[in-house]
Amino acid sequence: MATDGQKVVLITGCSSGIGLRLAVLLARDTQRRFYVIATMRDLRKKAKLEEEAGVTLHETLVIRQLDVCCDESVTECLNGLQDRKIDVLVNNAGMGQIGPLESLSMQDMQKVFDTNFFGVVRMIKAVLPDMKRRKSGHIVVMSSVMGLQGIVFNDVYSASKFAIEGFCESLAVQLLKFNVNVSLIEPGPVNTEFEMKLMEEVAKSEFPGADADTVRYFKDVYLPASHEIFVTLGQSPDTVAKEVIKVIAMRKPVFRYLTNSLYTPLVAMKYADESGNLSVRSFYNLLFNYGTIFHLSMNLLKCITCNCFRRRTVTPS
Ligand SMILES: NC(=O)c1ccc[n+]([C@@H]2O[C@H](COP(=O)([O-])OP(=O)(O)OC[C@H]3O[C@@H](n4cnc5c(N)ncnc54)[C@H](OP(=O)(O)O)[C@@H]3O)[C@@H](O)[C@H]2O)c1
Repeated sequence: MATDGQKVVLITGCSSGIGLRLAVLLARDTQRRFYVIATMRDLRKKAKLEEEAGVTLHETLVIRQLDVCCDESVTECLNGLQDRKIDVLVNNAGMGQIGPLESLSMQDMQKVFDTNFFGVVRMIKAVLPDMKRRKSGHIVVMSSVMGLQGIVFNDVYSASKFAIEGFCESLAVQLLKFNVNVSLIEPGPVNTEFEMKLMEEVAKSEFPGADADTVRYFKDVYLPASHEIFVTLGQSPDTVAKEVIKVIAMRKPVFRYLTNSLYTPLVAMKYADESGNLSVRSFYNLLFNYGTIFHLSMNLLKCITCNCFRRRTVTPS
């Protein structure tokens, strides 16, 4: 049970990746500032979290079932909490989807929105009355740089994150009146099971309905480039989790938080040209016309972001 002064943090999607590491790091906080309700839709997957939680399990961390796509599951989980009290809700659960649009079924696309958009809306709607009544609360949403800039072959995933950005932007204003803060976390690529799950889906698909040229661009141009981006720019789930903890601990939390500064130019480019041409044409050229420049810039970034290089440049001789 949470003690006085401890912030109760409920996190969705803690079976793996960012959610799992965030739950563990919050629970291990040396000042015991947090009481973590780590939720997942399938409790058969809880062993990894239990193991990583170690001695914090049942002390500062408890595990509960919660499927963000299911009303009953959300209600049951919240009703099981002491006074239904949640100080911080972290909407982390999410899923990706890549591929040529023509080959994706409407049903699969709707599943992405059901999870990444309506799942978050369902959670916020459920916790809002209590937060408003108490005039206190913090809603954190795991968005993505793809919620700010659409990325080729991620059309529906990007759209689901854009949708949640718009929803939060609108809600944040109203909620400030009730002393409830909203924060969007916008990571670039993160090395979790996320990419692997997408690759498994791609391996199974025969891309029905997509023309041969599009399938070729997807397989031979997009997939290798995407993999290179994950390897070069990808952050660890721990790095992202630590950034989220900074935001949770702020007295006046920020609304937007890009976790990977290498993505700042990408966002700046979008706002630098209101016609939208600069970003659309730059991405097109980088991917389809200037592949060599793309690989060279990735290699350069690998050098710049490499730890030993950084050490060499900052350690005084
Ligand atoms: N990895 C990246 O490159 C990246 C970049 C930017 C933003 N993000 C965002 O970060 C968040 C976490 O992703 P991750 O990288 O940690 O990937 P991950 O390891 O695949 O974790 C996703 C989590 O969401 C859970 N989930 C999916 N559908 C759910 C549902 N209906 N109800 C409850 N939980 C559900 C998954 O549970 P199951 O195990 O049951 O499937 C899993 O625990 C996502 O919102 C993602 O969009 C990721």
